[in-house]
Amino acid sequence: MTTARRILIDTDPGIDDAMAIFYALASPELDVVGLTTVFGNAHTDVCTTNALRLLDIAGRPDIPVAQGASRPLAMNYRGPVAFVHGDDGQGNVHLPPSTRAAVPVHAAQFIIDTVMAEPDEITVVLLGPFTNMALAMLMHPGLTSFVKEIVVMGGAAFTSGNASPASEANILNDPEAADIVFGADCPITMAGLDVTHRITMTNEDLAAFGRTPGPRAAHLAAIVPYYAGFYRDRNHVDGIYVHDSTTISYLLAPHLFTWKELPIRVDTGHSVCRGRTLPALHDSDEEGPWQGRRAVRILTDVDARGAIDLELEHLAR
Ligand code: RIB
Ligand code: CA
Repeated sequence: MTTARRILIDTDPGIDDAMAIFYALASPELDVVGLTTVFGNAHTDVCTTNALRLLDIAGRPDIPVAQGASRPLAMNYRGPVAFVHGDDGQGNVHLPPSTRAAVPVHAAQFIIDTVMAEPDEITVVLLGPFTNMALAMLMHPGLTSFVKEIVVMGGAAFTSGNASPASEANILNDPEAADIVFGADCPITMAGLDVTHRITMTNEDLAAFGRTPGPRAAHLAAIVPYYAGFYRDRNHVDGIYVHDSTTISYLLAPHLFTWKELPIRVDTGHSVCRGRTLPALHDSDEEGPWQGRRAVRILTDVDARGAIDLELEHLAR
């Protein structure tokens, strides 16, 4: 029997973050060693409360939560997106507070301590702005040579953005941090809009949560309609894009995906292109601003039905 892959999830829960966290927890192939929280879909303290409550709901109060950055590295926080995730980040269901608290260590330090305790064993999954990981890299240069892999939901390499025409939301929330993380010295996989916009979980698919027993499915059945309402009203989509869960589907079933491997820089200028994730398309580009960067595995296509069925099957457990 193979041992479970040890993953640390950095997150801004967030409705699709909740789905991804429950999906990971339902996967025996994965061992979630901790959650770290960041601003993004809501303020950081709200995201921390949500992370603790999601673990309570999942019956996993043994998993530590470390609170992280409350603002980006070099700009002001753009603010919560209540119209996507609700005032509370969880579809306005207003969860009661958890009975436990976050551990008394900053998320960036928690990432460093977790990685260095088990060199080459920890996969870091980023589901919000990349601020905590970037801080960890600044605090501990060389850290990422001990990271097994970084898998991110973020970016749009060959397609347009969702938070601006140029940028995906997690990147636009902290472009400077994203540019640091894409320079990491370990394998990096990017599940950006190139692939997540190919995976629509329809309202018919989502109805499965209401038919599934257990507290995880009950919570998803309560929160997902708010997210689906955003997609219906703003994007005319029947269902939702399962952005954050795509990282987990990739870890469980990479054979469902296709990719290109190219180094990436992030536009940190203050133009309309701020936050754009730019791959080096030609060999000659790699001598310029991309010089010395490892190629990022950019997911570009997917067996969408396969990924949805895999996730639904896990979330029904
Ligand atoms: O662009 C999608 C991403 O932004 C997801 O991580 C979602 O949760 C939001 O943070
Ligand atoms: Ca997220």
